[in-house]
This record gives sequence, C-alpha cells and structure tokens, in this order.
Amino acid sequence: MIKIKKRKILLLPGDGIGPEVIQEVKKVIQWFNSNKSLDFEIDQDLAGGCSFDKHGTPITDEVFYKALECEVVMLGAVGGPKWDNLDFSKKPERALLKLRKELKLFANLRPAICFEQLVDASTLKPEIVSGLDIMIVRELTGGIYFGEPRGIKPIENGERKGVNTHTYTTSEIVRVAKVAFDLAKKRSNKVTSCEKSNVMEAGQLWREEVQELHDKEYKDVELSHMLADNCAMQLLKNPKQFDVIVTDNLFGDMLSDQASMLTGSLGLLPSASLGAKNKDGEMRAMYEPIHGSAPDIVGQGIANPIASILSFAMALRYSLDLDNEADALEKAVQDVLNDGLRTKDIISEGMKEVSTSVMGDAIISKLQ
Ligand code: IPM
Ligand code: MG
Repeated sequence: MIKIKKRKILLLPGDGIGPEVIQEVKKVIQWFNSNKSLDFEIDQDLAGGCSFDKHGTPITDEVFYKALECEVVMLGAVGGPKWDNLDFSKKPERALLKLRKELKLFANLRPAICFEQLVDASTLKPEIVSGLDIMIVRELTGGIYFGEPRGIKPIENGERKGVNTHTYTTSEIVRVAKVAFDLAKKRSNKVTSCEKSNVMEAGQLWREEVQELHDKEYKDVELSHMLADNCAMQLLKNPKQFDVIVTDNLFGDMLSDQASMLTGSLGLLPSASLGAKNKDGEMRAMYEPIHGSAPDIVGQGIANPIASILSFAMALRYSLDLDNEADALEKAVQDVLNDGLRTKDIISEGMKEVSTSVMGDAIISKLQ
C-alpha cells in the first residue's frame, strides 16, 4: 500500500496546450509557497502522447507510482491528432483512464457556472444562463468505460463485432450518490439522478439504489430522477432547474460537455476527480481543466489558463482543506475578469485581449 504524502503535488501537463496552462498553475503554487508560507512540494512528469513519444507508453510505471503517493495530481490535457492512429492501449487517453481507475477516483465533480461577466459569451439567451450554477457529479471508474467483456473480434460470417459492457454494482452507485447528496446539502439541496432506466437494467438499478440511499440517509435532500436524454434537453431548455446532477460515466461525459457550453467557454471550467477517504482521512485526487489539448492553438500563447487555475482552487478546497486560499484564488479570477482582461476564447468588444501568461500574472497580482 503506497502512502499518500501530504502537500505533495504532481504536475502532469500532458499534451497540446496542457503545458501552457499548467505552467500558470505552477506560478500560482509557487506564489502560495512564498507568500502564504505554504510548503507544497512540486514534482512534474510526462503523461499522454508526450510520454508515448519518449517512453513508448502513455504513462510509465514510475509516473504512475508517483501519482499514487501524491496528495494532489494536476493534469493539463492529453491527446492530439498525432497519436490518433495508435493502438488502443497506447493512446494518450489511456494515461488518463489508468489514473482514474487505479487511483480509484470514482467521483468526478464538474461545475458549470456562468460567470456574470461572460453571460453574453453563451450561445443561449442571457436570461436562460445568467446565475447558472450546476454541479455535475459523474461516476468515473465504472460503467461502459471499463466493463468487461470488451474488444473487437471476428465473428462467423466474416464480419467483426465491437463489444463494450455497461455494468454497475450497488456499492459503485451508492458511493457516488453519497458524494452528490453531501454536496447538495452545501448548495441548494437538490439532486437530479440521471440514467436510462427505461431501456437499461443497469439504469434501473441505478435509480433504485439512489432512491433507497435517499430514503435511508438523505430524506432532507430533494431528489428527482430524470432520463438522461430528457436531461440533455432540459439543460438547454431550463438549465437553472438543476442544482446537483448525478449520473454514470458515459452520460456524465456527455452531459458535462453540454452543460459546460451553457457557460460560454470551456476555458473556464475546472474539475475534480476524488477517491474515498482512508482511515486517516486522506484521499487521492486529480484535478484538471474540462477542456482538452486544443491542438489547433498550441504554442500561440492564447490558451485560457483560468480552468486550470480554478482546478487548483478546487484542490485547495477539496484536498488541502484551505478554503480561505481557495476563496481568494477564485476571487482573484473574478477581479481580473472585472478588470476586462480576456484571453482570446472569451474576448468581446471593449475588453482587453491578453496572453496565457499575462492572464496568469494578472490573477497572481490580484492575490497580493
Ligand atoms: C473527459 C474526456 C475523457 C473522457 C477522454 C479524454 C478519455 O472526454 O474527461 O470528459 O471521455 O472521459
Ligand atoms: Mg468528455
């Protein structure tokens, strides 16, 4: 059993714009180290396509073990067209999936918050998205992403068959639903659980287990069940009806992408992937921006570092118990937006366009 080392942070910048945005996070961490007398120990290594290029594997055992002993892993992004044709087991995404699965990070928190300064950046009408604050809790280590059997195999008639398996057990459903109910209690006290219980047995089980947990332990939280396709529709029609949405791995992947665009830009949204607490109250966790590696804008200095910096704010809050520091960092981001600074992805008339590193510096200067 590998022990978790307190305050140890592993940066895995990954591919594409990952290194550019994680560089800004590194500056923020260094600022906290020198100005708040914190003692975060930073390590940095390769994961994703960059690791494949150097070592022939998307994540080496050495890096994987480092991740196991760090209290916080900060990931940038993995993947890109360069590695699209690799064998499945070598694809950059396998690094991410291995970290999620083997670190047992079963609860993926994906907030979709519409920043007041950016209401007009959404493709939806301002009155639909203004004030939006949703938390999607996506199950991250089960379901069709990991179910067995899986694979592509030849069949008798000379065709091939692709197989993936969608499975969930009671405990897998209950532990993620608990996270959702506990979060709701600190928010607007409402959970919407999404599945396809009308066509899938695993969905029916999901609904029953969530309801049973609610009736046993969370009667004071308002619970509703919604079919995942209806949820996709409701997210566009009336997104403010939602507080916390809890759903499985695949539906969570899709619904969180959809919810994120309600807010106008993928460049702003952080995420946290959390494991269970051990008996000493320690927990493994990985934090990453929602956006991908964005190969089309690599190396231009225009990537938005806010999602990554806000991911570090989530790390301060959920892993390091530093709520005040998390608040301060989130406020610094708001202040910079209020000053009219924008990276290219969120630029609008009358605002000042700045580069990735200028945005990072501006946020740090607000922390002073
Ligand atoms: C996400 C991504 C990943 C997923 C990919 C990169 C494997 O889309 O984190 O949402 O499908 O989970
Ligand atoms: Mg996704």
